[in-house]
Amino acid sequence: MALAKDLIIRIGGEGGEGIISSGDMIAQAAARSGLEVLTFKTFPAEIRGGYAMYQIRFSKSRILSEGSGFNVLCCFNKESLDVNRKYLQEGNALIYDYPGGDIEEEVNIPGVHCYPVPMSKIAKTELGVYRSKNMVCLGAVADLFSISMESLKETVVEKFGKKGQEVVDVNFKALEAGQTYIRENIKKEDSFNMEPGTPKDDVIIISGNYAVGLGALLAGCKYFSAYPITPATEVANFLSINLPKVNGNLVQAEDEIASLANVIGASYGGLKSMTATSGPGLSLMQELIGMSTMMEVPVVICDVQRGGPSTGLPTKHEQSDLFLAAHGGHGDGSRVVLSPEGIEDCVYMTVDAFNIAEKYQVPVLLLSDGSLGFRTASMKKPDPSKIKTINRDTYDPSSNGSESFMRYKLTKSGISPMSTPGQPDGAYISTGLEHGESSAPRYTPDNHTVMLDKRFNKLDDLEDFFTPTEVDIDEDAELGVVAWGSTIGTLREALALAREDGLKVSAIYPKLVWPMPKKALNDFAAKHKKILVTEINKQAQLAALLRSETDMDPISYNIYGGLPFTPKMIADKIMEVL
Ligand code: COA
Repeated sequence: MALAKDLIIRIGGEGGEGIISSGDMIAQAAARSGLEVLTFKTFPAEIRGGYAMYQIRFSKSRILSEGSGFNVLCCFNKESLDVNRKYLQEGNALIYDYPGGDIEEEVNIPGVHCYPVPMSKIAKTELGVYRSKNMVCLGAVADLFSISMESLKETVVEKFGKKGQEVVDVNFKALEAGQTYIRENIKKEDSFNMEPGTPKDDVIIISGNYAVGLGALLAGCKYFSAYPITPATEVANFLSINLPKVNGNLVQAEDEIASLANVIGASYGGLKSMTATSGPGLSLMQELIGMSTMMEVPVVICDVQRGGPSTGLPTKHEQSDLFLAAHGGHGDGSRVVLSPEGIEDCVYMTVDAFNIAEKYQVPVLLLSDGSLGFRTASMKKPDPSKIKTINRDTYDPSSNGSESFMRYKLTKSGISPMSTPGQPDGAYISTGLEHGESSAPRYTPDNHTVMLDKRFNKLDDLEDFFTPTEVDIDEDAELGVVAWGSTIGTLREALALAREDGLKVSAIYPKLVWPMPKKALNDFAAKHKKILVTEINKQAQLAALLRSETDMDPISYNIYGGLPFTPKMIADKIMEVL
């Protein structure tokens, strides 16, 4: 039997039927067997009902995106079959709830290996617990594709243990019933199998949102305040458990405005501080972002983007907050915007976000997104001893001679030492008002000009300070492609596909998206006749910023349906443009 190098399983059903739990459990079992794992989930905004989908991709090689399509489809109900039928391809395997569910007749699709499994019926009549239907399906999937039953049982205990031994027992029985059904009734015809890898002790499986929380801990964050909002709430969930372990504090505020106000106050008080939100929350925070710019107080804001505007598509993927992140708010406000590509970036770029905020005393926005925040993937366990953290330049009265403390002193770098409240001789006024060097309000034309320049010019060397912008150059390429955020991983895989087809193409992956790394972008532009920008928003936001800030005049490939690109979509576009 052929062993699949890269297997993608998609599970579809109704929200509330336990789709997410079953997907999580397959992902955990695969990761424990030493495989690379990357998941994608999409579900409706309602707690129950509507189409929910979970996709798990595993491989022995590095995985950078959700992948293109799937190999195995598990349908818990008719709707999931109707939604996915058009994507089924020759050679795919289909497991579906029949008879006994709402799929009314046996499915025969030429070239597709169709395996009917009466999941609902077994759960209802044999086990007497309809809730366990997802575990019947999992037992069947485990048997068909050689997923370790032992690992699955371990995850059942982890996931449902807190619900009581009775729940664990019935789920064990359901797993076994699914397995037995396959052994007694189904002849495997497909070639897919999960060949285990080599289990490693130093690998963790973690979601993008938890990874941001982990990055915050590694950076030395001691205060987090937020208001719950999908898809960002898990950052707070993670930190609510883990921040107290490092003597940190988490406060759930009454809204997003209050949460950023809390964060500014805590940072003013000397603590590395952070909040996390999503689009509507980021809109509310704009005035306070301006205040932290004016006060020159370091803050980190993680924005897990979702479909907008307004409440829009709260559980769906989009990259449409770039304009807001770079240009939102009133007045001329300097700020920094970073865009992590994957799970490891969620950890290490959160550390970068704190380092930049502390070094430059600016608000730093970390633009994650729905696909990345909800994704779980495997990564090497971070080694805290290798993490470089930067602390703000603090006021040292002994270095000041007889001069009194000038909080906004005009230094060569534009960065002025900060005192901590209560520090002898370190008192200053910190408000949203324009101020002179001493911090006292000052409204003269000269002063406003000088202070605005200070707040912008201190970022002049940021492009060199932050990890250099990565490029992947083919010296003969006429086309260069740009992506940001989680689309970068998809572009990396698309580039490999395009090159397999003999196409000459380069790529640039800006992770510092504001202020733009102009040197790297203009250098890249000079090497290519055509530039293509791939992103997930209607207004082609990165392309517009590139047009205004750099020498690029890009072609845009932008989609905005609530789903990420697949590598194949981008590879096809590269082919079309070339
Ligand atoms: N035995 C016992 N319990 C089981 C089970 C089983 N075999 N399978 C699932 N469950 C439990 C899960 O543990 C979970 O319980 P919990 O809520 O106590 O953690 C619950 O059933 C739901 O299952 P889960 O697998 O997590 O989710 P699902 O696939 O059924 O989908 C969601 C439900 C996630 C789509 C839905 O609940 C949701 O959260 N929707 C989004 C809401 C939102 O964010 N809206 C936006 C607001 S702005």
